[in-house]
Amino acid sequence: MSKSYTIAVAGATGAVGTKIVELLNGANLPIKEVKALASKRSVGKTIPFKDTTIVVEELTAEAFTGVDIAIFSAGGSLSEKFAPEAVKRGAVVIDNTSHYRMDENVPLVVPEVNPESLRDHQGIIANPNCSTIQMMVALEPIRQAFGLEKIVVSTYQAVSGAGAQGIAELENQVKAYSEGTPLKELKAEVLPSAGDKKHYPIAFNALPQIDVFGEDGYTLEEWKMINETKKIMSDDTIKVAATCVRIPVVSGHSESIYIEVEKETNVKALQELLANAPGVVLQDDPSQQLYPQAINSIDDKATFVGRIRRDLDNPKGFHLWVVSDNLLKGAAWNSIQIAEKMHALKLL
Ligand code: A2P
Repeated sequence: MSKSYTIAVAGATGAVGTKIVELLNGANLPIKEVKALASKRSVGKTIPFKDTTIVVEELTAEAFTGVDIAIFSAGGSLSEKFAPEAVKRGAVVIDNTSHYRMDENVPLVVPEVNPESLRDHQGIIANPNCSTIQMMVALEPIRQAFGLEKIVVSTYQAVSGAGAQGIAELENQVKAYSEGTPLKELKAEVLPSAGDKKHYPIAFNALPQIDVFGEDGYTLEEWKMINETKKIMSDDTIKVAATCVRIPVVSGHSESIYIEVEKETNVKALQELLANAPGVVLQDDPSQQLYPQAINSIDDKATFVGRIRRDLDNPKGFHLWVVSDNLLKGAAWNSIQIAEKMHALKLL
């Protein structure tokens, strides 16, 4: 008889953690028990799961005793502290934070792109950055078929990427504005980055800062997209540039992506390729005003691609618009897919 798993979700009460518990409900995994772990504040809260409820426990090292799979989404410092504790107790960790992503002993996995790298794991597997994941799902089929020399991406990212407090900040500001507070006086405490000194309103605004700045003028979010792309595609030679922007959308990240391919191709070939690519839904018909939209991506596991155009100056240059629910394919769903894949590959 095959084994059934005890699965712990660290950060189960958060924006991503809540989705992880929801998706475990229909996961293609034999599940014995789900443990919901969060801060002391949440201990005793209940979360519905299948036809029962799970009572939230405190995130501690001991909570991982007897756990087979631990999915972390409680922030990088908690992953740093507790992921090794979970591994020590025999669990395989799937980490949603950026903490372990560039560690050479940690596979960074998008199951549609590089599932085989799961075989190299040493206890921890990293789930890539939300913006990177959807870009990989859209671009890997193109790379396989036509080669990829260069990527220039600009993102339009939803506030839920900053967690439950990012959503609350946008909602509070919209409410305050509707009650008469002038735009520039809206109270901001979280965005653009909880870890930075200044905060600006996100309501009715666009903030070209996600995470903190490095000395080179790029933000850490931009560096995540650059470095993670090269690691996931196992190709250091791809040129990648990114500009990451937060916009007042609750969920669903959108990306304008410019690529340069190696072999000649055309829009129709790219459309056909992507229409049949794993995890992709092609929505590309300007005559019907059909293109991906953030609000239509919510609660959908797919990555939507549209607006595919040839560049006007470079015959090997193409433009695409790529949208996905950052809480699902960008986070929770990708983690569940990793767990399912590990089970299928008998790595658990
Ligand atoms: P809690 O709800 O008890 O604060 P989000 O990404 O939406 O901000 O969610 C963060 C998740 O991480 C929540 O589940 C939150 O639990 C959890 N978390 C935050 N700080 C801690 C902590 N110090 N110890 C354990 N869990 C934490």
